Amino acid sequence: MDKAKAHLTPKHIQLFRAISENKDKVVAKLLKEPDEPLDLKVKNAQGFAPLHVAAIEGHKEVIRLLIEAGADVHQLTDEGESPIFVATKYHNFSAVKALVKLGARVSQQTSNGQVPLDVANKKIATFLNVVVSRETLSAMQMATSEDSTQGNIINWSSNMSVGVSRFDDDHKQLIDAINKLWHVRLEKDLQKRKRIISALLNFLVHYTQFHFQAEEDMFDKYNWAVKKAHIKQHQNLLKQVGQFVKLFENGQADVDDALLDFLQQWLTTHIMKEDKQYSEFFNKHGVY
Ligand SMILES: [Fe+2]
Ligand SMILES: [Fe+2]
Repeated sequence: MDKAKAHLTPKHIQLFRAISENKDKVVAKLLKEPDEPLDLKVKNAQGFAPLHVAAIEGHKEVIRLLIEAGADVHQLTDEGESPIFVATKYHNFSAVKALVKLGARVSQQTSNGQVPLDVANKKIATFLNVVVSRETLSAMQMATSEDSTQGNIINWSSNMSVGVSRFDDDHKQLIDAINKLWHVRLEKDLQKRKRIISALLNFLVHYTQFHFQAEEDMFDKYNWAVKKAHIKQHQNLLKQVGQFVKLFENGQADVDDALLDFLQQWLTTHIMKEDKQYSEFFNKHGVY
């Protein structure tokens, strides 16, 4: 018998049950009992530690409680899979988001060399791609950050608000990526310039996919009658940016003033003309 499994106490059995049943108050109580602190590395008969069970069941509050109580966010199952890997494999989007927020590395490999993106459905993959591209970008910017004194090509202002704060936040992220492209276009070190532009374009594409998906999910949730034309616009915009990225990567196009002008027009026109059409509708449904 596995050494970890040999230490499965009645209290552990209670904990596993409470996690499966999503009884967060019971989980909290078991984790807080001072007499006998629970070893959270212990695995059940299937080779899962408590955090893996929570990741499979998709209970974000339970996930938070376990990690705060010391559960290892990168522990492997007997099959060599991390909590975020099993959450992804079982299509538990809320668990994936919670684990990323609590420090899970999306690049962690299983013992077979797979990463969560290899088993993700479309929705989770869109999210994981944003996380991966953001990580690449921030690692790069640590080494390259320099203050630009030239100002931005585009600034978010309150007249761009679409009345739904999470979408305003998304638009600000996209604007920020376009501004970063604007600043880096003048970088003299050509290799460095290409590397940063590639990472920025990668982020821009993935964040745009993520944001469009989030808007479209909301259209579906509230059954917005005129969503069809809006979704078509999203598809066209993504196609245009995707085509440019391909040309850039093949050395057939560059990030120049004309392209940046196009990108800022692309985004502001869509926000001001299309996105603003849903403000009143969502606000009427209590979404702000
Ligand atoms: Fe939109
Ligand atoms: Fe939007």
